[in-house]
Amino acid sequence: MTTAEAYAEFGIREARGVSPTYERLAQAVARDDDLLALLDGLPPAKRQPNLLFGVVRWLGGPVDDPVTFHDFVVTHWAAVEAELLIRATQTNEAGRCAVLLPVLAALPQPLALLEVGASAGLCLYPDRYAYRYGDHQVGSGTPMLECEANGLVPPADVPQVVWRAGLDLNPLDVTDPHDVSWLDALIWPEHAHRRARLRAAAAAAAADPPLLVRGDLVDDLPALAAQAPTDATLVVFHTSVLYQVPPPRRDAFVRLVRELPGHWVANESPEVLGYDALPEPPDDALYNVLALDGKPLAWARGHGQAMTWFG
Ligand SMILES: C[S@@+](CC[C@H](N)C(=O)[O-])C[C@H]1O[C@@H](n2cnc3c(N)ncnc32)[C@H](O)[C@@H]1O
Repeated sequence: MTTAEAYAEFGIREARGVSPTYERLAQAVARDDDLLALLDGLPPAKRQPNLLFGVVRWLGGPVDDPVTFHDFVVTHWAAVEAELLIRATQTNEAGRCAVLLPVLAALPQPLALLEVGASAGLCLYPDRYAYRYGDHQVGSGTPMLECEANGLVPPADVPQVVWRAGLDLNPLDVTDPHDVSWLDALIWPEHAHRRARLRAAAAAAAADPPLLVRGDLVDDLPALAAQAPTDATLVVFHTSVLYQVPPPRRDAFVRLVRELPGHWVANESPEVLGYDALPEPPDDALYNVLALDGKPLAWARGHGQAMTWFG
C-alpha cells in the first residue's frame, strides 16, 4: 500500500464517523505531494497518520485546517521528522478495561496481572475504576468507564488484584507530565471525554505507580512472569498491541504465553491472531476480538466503548 493509499484508507476506515478533523486531514495528506514525499523518506512504520498527527499536536501545530497543517509540517519538518523517528503510537486507553473486566472478574481470584505492551500501564488498574454497562454499575472508583454491552451478563464486582506489572518496549511514566502530554496528543481532537478519562486514570495510576519494565513481549516475558506471586492467578493480557509486532514474533509470543501458568487474555484486531472461526461483527466499524486462552468471546470497539458477547 502506498503512503497516499494508507492515508486515504485511514480516513475512511478509522476516522470517518469518529473524527471529522482527522478524516479531512488524512484525505488532504493523501493528495498532498509535498507531504507524501517527506513521509516517504521515513521508514514505513514512521509514516502512519496517527503518529504524524500526534507529533504535530505535540509540537503545538494545527490539525484542524489542512492548509495550515501542510504549512506547519513543511516549515517545521526538521522538528517533525526528529519526533517521528523517536516516538511511536502508544495510545493508552483505560476505557479498554471495560472490555477486559467481565473476563478478569470471572477468573479465580485474586489476580496477578501482567500486561504486555502496557504503554503507561493504565489498563493495569481494572480494580480501581468504575464501570457502567447500560444501567448496571460495577465498582466505585474513577474514572467511570461506560460500555454499551450486548449479550453480556455484567460482572457483580471488580476483580481483586494483588500484583500488577507491565512490559513495554518504551514504557511511559504516568508521573511525568511530558509522558502524559504525549498520551494526550495521541487522543483525537474531538475526543474531550477521552482526554478527561486519561487525566483521571493517570491520576489514579500515579497514586500507586505500576511496576513497568522496558522489554520485549517475547524475550522478557518469562523473567517478569517469574516475579508474580504464586498464590494468585497469573493473567498475561494485552490490548491493541500485536498489530505492532511482526507476525513471526506474534507466533513466538503465542507459543510462549500458552506455556506459562495461569490465563491469557487478548483484545486485538481479528487479523492478528488468526482465529479459525468468528461470527459476523455487529457492523462495519473496526473491532477487536476479546479472547480467553485463545477462545474468542466478544467483539469489542477499539476504546472499550461497546462490546458484543458471543462466546
Ligand atoms: C497502541 S499501544 C496500546 C497500549 C495499551 N495496551 C492500551 O491498550 O492502552 C501499544 C503498545 O505496545 C508496545 N509494544 C509494541 N511492540 C512491543 C513489543 N514487541 N514488546 C513490548 N511492547 C511492545 C508499544 O510500545 C505501545 O506502548
